[in-house]
Amino acid sequence: MTIKNITILGSGVMGHGIAQVSATAGYNVVLRDIKQEFLDKAMGKIKWSLDKLVSKERISKEEGDKIFSRITPIVDLSNAVKDAEMVIEVVPEIMDLKKKVYAELDKVASSEVIFASNTSTLPITEIANTTSRPDKFIGIHFFNPPQLMKLVEVIPGEKTTQHVTDITLDYVKSVNKQAVICRKDVPGFIINRLFIPLVHEACYLKDRENLTLEEIDSAFKLNLGFPMGIFELADFTGMDVIHKATQEMYLRDKKVINPHPLVEKMFEEKKLGQKSGEGFYKYSDDKYERVTLSEELAKKCNPIQLVANILNNAAWLISNGASDIEEIEKASQLGLGLKKPLFDTAKQMGIKNIVNELNKLANENGDFYTPDSLLVSMQ
Ligand SMILES: NC(=O)c1ccc[n+]([C@@H]2O[C@H](COP(=O)([O-])OP(=O)(O)OC[C@H]3O[C@@H](n4cnc5c(N)ncnc54)[C@H](O)[C@@H]3O)[C@@H](O)[C@H]2O)c1
Repeated sequence: MTIKNITILGSGVMGHGIAQVSATAGYNVVLRDIKQEFLDKAMGKIKWSLDKLVSKERISKEEGDKIFSRITPIVDLSNAVKDAEMVIEVVPEIMDLKKKVYAELDKVASSEVIFASNTSTLPITEIANTTSRPDKFIGIHFFNPPQLMKLVEVIPGEKTTQHVTDITLDYVKSVNKQAVICRKDVPGFIINRLFIPLVHEACYLKDRENLTLEEIDSAFKLNLGFPMGIFELADFTGMDVIHKATQEMYLRDKKVINPHPLVEKMFEEKKLGQKSGEGFYKYSDDKYERVTLSEELAKKCNPIQLVANILNNAAWLISNGASDIEEIEKASQLGLGLKKPLFDTAKQMGIKNIVNELNKLANENGDFYTPDSLLVSMQ
C-alpha cells in the first residue's frame, strides 16, 4: 500500500503544521475542521509560514504555491476522507471527543484506511478498540511546532499490525522527520514520561532545598545540557498543556508522576507561561525574553534529584519493554533538545549516587521514588 492522500482531522496548533509538512513532502492533503472559519485561519497560517520560507529563500515562490495548492480545506467529513489512505487525527486531547470523532470517521472511511492519532497522552489501544479497525490504528506523536521539530513518536497499539507500523514509519521518514518507536502503549509515551514529571520534581526541589527558580534553571541548563531551564521550558510549553498531560498520565499510572500542587494552582490562576504573560516567570510584551542564567547561580544547586527523577522514568521505560537506552537518547536529543546524553550525565554523577538519592527520597517522601530495578542493577 502506498500513501498518496492524507486527511488531517483538526486544523489547530498541530493540525495545520502536520498538513504543511505532509504537503511539502508531496502528499495530497485534505484538512478538515468543524467550521469553515477554522480552516480559513489554518490556511492563512500555512500561507504565512510558506511565504516566510520563500522570503528566506529556503523554497522558491513556485514551490511555495505548489505546496499550498496540495492542501484542500473541507468541512464535510465524508467528502474529506473519500480519497484518503491515511487519516491523521489532531482534535483536542479529550478522550470522549476523540472517541466521538472516531465513531463518525469509522462509518465514512473505507475499511482500508489507516487511523493515526496525534494524541500526547491518551492510550492508543483504548481508542483503537472503539473502532472497527484496531489493527490499522496507530499513535503518531508530532511535537510542537511540527514544521520545526524533528521527532515523531510512533506508538503501535496492542493490535496494530507490523505492516501498518512500517507504513507509518515510511510516512514519518518521507516528511523528513525521525521516528522513535514507543514499543508499548504506556502513559506519556517516551518524551512526556520524561519531561512532565520533571516539572513537578523541580517544584519539589525548590521547596526541599529552598532554591530560586534561576538557581535550579541555571544548573539544569548549564550542568545537564538542556537548551533552557526546566521552569523556562515549562513556561514555553504552557501550564495548560502540562496540567492536562499530568492529569491524563496520573489517572492511568500513579508511578509516573508525583504531582506538585503548584502546577494545578498555576493552571487555575491562568498563569500559563509565556502565552499568558506569566508562568513561573513574568513576560512582558509578545517578545520572548530569556531568563538570565549563569554558572554562578548554577553552583548553588545540585540537580541530582532532577537527574534521579528523569533517569528513574527512563529506566522504567526500558524495564517495561517500551524503549531502550539508544532510542531514549535519540528521543531526548530530538524532542527535548538535550545536548548531553542522559546516561552520560548519570554516569558522571555516579549511578550509585543516584540510586542512593532515590532511596533517600523514597524514605522521606514515599514509594514513588523507589529506584527502578534496572538502575539498581547498573550501580
Ligand atoms: N499543542 C501541542 O503542543 C501538542 C503537541 C503534541 C501533540 N498535541 C496533541 O495534538 C492534538 C491537538 O492539539 P492542538 O494543540 O493542535 O489542539 P487545538 O485546539 O489547537 O486544535 C484542535 C482542532 O481540532 C478541531 N476539531 C474539534 N473537533 C473536530 C472534529 N470532530 N473534526 C475535525 N476537527 C475538529 C478544533 O476546531 C481545532 O481547530 C491533541 O491530541 C494534543 O494532545 C498537541
